[in-house]
Amino acid sequence: MRRKVIAGNWKMNMLPNEAIDYIQAFEPLVKEADAEVVLCVPYTDLFYCLMNAQGTNIKIGAQNMNFKETGAYTGEISGSMLKSIGVEYVIIGHSERRQYYNETDESVNSKLKAAFANSLKPIVCVGETLEEREAGKTEERITSQTRLALNGLTPEQAKETIIAYEPIWAIGTGKTATSEDANNSIKAIREEVRKLYGEEVANEIIIQYGGSVKSSNAKELFSTSDIDGGLVGGASLKPDEFAKIVNWDKE
Ligand code: 13P
Repeated sequence: MRRKVIAGNWKMNMLPNEAIDYIQAFEPLVKEADAEVVLCVPYTDLFYCLMNAQGTNIKIGAQNMNFKETGAYTGEISGSMLKSIGVEYVIIGHSERRQYYNETDESVNSKLKAAFANSLKPIVCVGETLEEREAGKTEERITSQTRLALNGLTPEQAKETIIAYEPIWAIGTGKTATSEDANNSIKAIREEVRKLYGEEVANEIIIQYGGSVKSSNAKELFSTSDIDGGLVGGASLKPDEFAKIVNWDKE
């Protein structure tokens, strides 16, 4: 049985004082959660969140990292820097980074390898645009992104990778994929992993859904056969709303 992983992606929101207030309000609401609870926060909040989440079941993640270890890369943060302060997770290849900051399948793959080199748990995002969907290319797109992201990883690393299926047209739009649609896309990703790594890795790899997840649709999405939790943007900014999503199985 795969455990659900439910991660909030705050994106470019929340000042440190807001982050501290958030964790204080959120922690008592999720301490009995069955799911793994992760908050992926801006770099400037990481330290405050790590301090305030210490001794709780809340895990902290970053939203990006560089694939180089050190060097003249002004403004960048490496995997070893994240690891050194206690960060556990890192989002890699979010569609906003692919779209606005020229992330490619190749850089995503390099970042994934750098995350493993630093014992960080990567959450790799894949997803189709509306155009690709309308042209019937969803499956082709997401399986190729998956294949290129995992290129060169060992089976052990592939098993530890979390994939977030986030259809781009569903991000921040209020439009959610139907649970059946999302589950089918995730099955296609799992099938691709099966082709690459075999049955055991495919059965164990965590594949989340992301795109307008909220407390009102979490149960329907997370009760399907293949959706192993979610990557949640807007609805993760309010502790009570995100706690309801994390506790989707307890209502
Ligand atoms: P929303 O939940 O705001 O649609 O964002 C999804 C997302 O991009 C999470 O990474």
